[in-house]
Amino acid sequence: MKTFYITTAIDYVNGSPHLGHAYEKVLTDVIARFRRMMGDRVYFLTGVDEHGQKVQQSARKRGIAPQQFCDEVSQEFRAMCAKLDISNDDFIRTTEQRHKDVVARILQQLYDQGEIYKAEYKGFYSTRQEQFLQEKDRNPDGSWPEIFGEVTEITEANYFFKLAKYQDWLIRFLKENDNFIFPRYRQKQVLEFLSEPLNDLCISRPRERLEWGIPLPFDTNYVTYVWFDALVNYYSAVEGKEGVWPADFHVIGKDILVPPHAVYWPIMLKACGLPTPKSILAHGWWSINGSKMSKSTGNFVEPIEFAERYGVDALRFFMIREMSVGQDSDFSLNQFLARYNAELANNLGNLVNRTLNMTNRFAGGVVPAGASAAEIAADANLAPERELRALWEKTRDEFITLCEGFQFHIALERAFAFVTATNRYVEQRAPWKLGKSTEAADQALLKTALATMAEALRLGASLLPAVMPTTAQKVYGVLGYTPGGSWRDQLVWGESLTGAKVAETAILFPRPQAPEAGTAKG
Ligand code: MSP
Repeated sequence: MKTFYITTAIDYVNGSPHLGHAYEKVLTDVIARFRRMMGDRVYFLTGVDEHGQKVQQSARKRGIAPQQFCDEVSQEFRAMCAKLDISNDDFIRTTEQRHKDVVARILQQLYDQGEIYKAEYKGFYSTRQEQFLQEKDRNPDGSWPEIFGEVTEITEANYFFKLAKYQDWLIRFLKENDNFIFPRYRQKQVLEFLSEPLNDLCISRPRERLEWGIPLPFDTNYVTYVWFDALVNYYSAVEGKEGVWPADFHVIGKDILVPPHAVYWPIMLKACGLPTPKSILAHGWWSINGSKMSKSTGNFVEPIEFAERYGVDALRFFMIREMSVGQDSDFSLNQFLARYNAELANNLGNLVNRTLNMTNRFAGGVVPAGASAAEIAADANLAPERELRALWEKTRDEFITLCEGFQFHIALERAFAFVTATNRYVEQRAPWKLGKSTEAADQALLKTALATMAEALRLGASLLPAVMPTTAQKVYGVLGYTPGGSWRDQLVWGESLTGAKVAETAILFPRPQAPEAGTAKG
């Protein structure tokens, strides 16, 4: 069986992790966890991109050696993954020997095959973007766009990879694989980019200008262009692992789709004779309080600190609930708190409290046996139970289909709509009234109501482990439930809770503390 292999972009270590980095890891983690729940064997890779000009400059600014700098900052990224409950199987650093060896071998192979040649290059170079510019990159007034920073004209000999030779192949490949990129409309952007002739890719940087990189195996006066080095991580991390390559999904931000992931990477693999990845998922970007996130202006969210203050699962939930995969979104504390209160505390939290409270008050804390499935199907008085079960089946099936199509924000909306419906059911049945009655029919209905709310809560929680792993476990715990069998089996309405001893109380979503200066303001 082929392992489902999924990756994130590897983050530059020239700064600390921010919300954008956190989102990409959480999104990828949700997909990985969902695939595992669906029964796939999954390999999930994340890591850091440690070479290049930016890292060299940041290390210099701190007055320490680049390797030491990378060792320190990469720890912050690892810590973020741990904090956010990212279930990655591996964490790759591009300064690791296992990676450098594969990059060197690939370069040597391409050089031996005649895919790499040396040529004189004269032109404009952006240090900030570490790339050579072309006339078409200029503003209409002839100046260079700000994103390029300082642009200087240079002449130097460099090594080039024959990218242009593969242009027609790539166009054909994209036309034959029209699901290569998600969302689909981004595939058109790639084809548009390919409607202009491709230039060969300069894959070297002279050592005198940039030292911090992987030396070219065939000319050590040069180091490898950082993108050529970085992209290889996806392959170098799993080389030799059976049934893993090619990647099923590369999850990346929209800014690094064209050209690196959608053009350079498939061509590099094709030239090496290696299978190309099956798909690329390009997500959108977060702004904060309506503008670009920026550490210097304080418009910034520290993901670790935020998760510590408001809860890991609450942050994971918000990011996945708020952003439609592929689109951009805005992050504000107000919007976060609005969802936190309405959906987590007052909806799910409330159902948990009520279930525990009623079960303790009226059934000695033990989930009673209610009406049987046959009775519920037949008895005219049990229409609310019937309707809730029908809604469950619809919710579950839609939830799975939506997750398969990466529509996680709608999937969560459906899951929480089921929780809302369960709360409504509780109000309709009003166990607190039934509990006061001594009529046998009311006592029987009370048992059915308590059994129904506990089971509905269990099922609602069983939709959450991919997005809110700790919360799902907590709900299972307070219900006295130990999940068994496959995930799909757990999604069936049944009687697994009958006789379960529930907890007395639970606080799933405590009232958030007031924010301090320095965190994203509402
Ligand atoms: N090192 C390269 C990627 C190499 S992959 C072989 C890089 N690093 S990055 O640190 O700048 O970005 C890492 C990822 O974070 C990218 O996928 C990028 O799109 C994503 N994000 C950076 N800022 C973001 C937001 N504001 N919002 C969402 N994601 C963002 O590019």
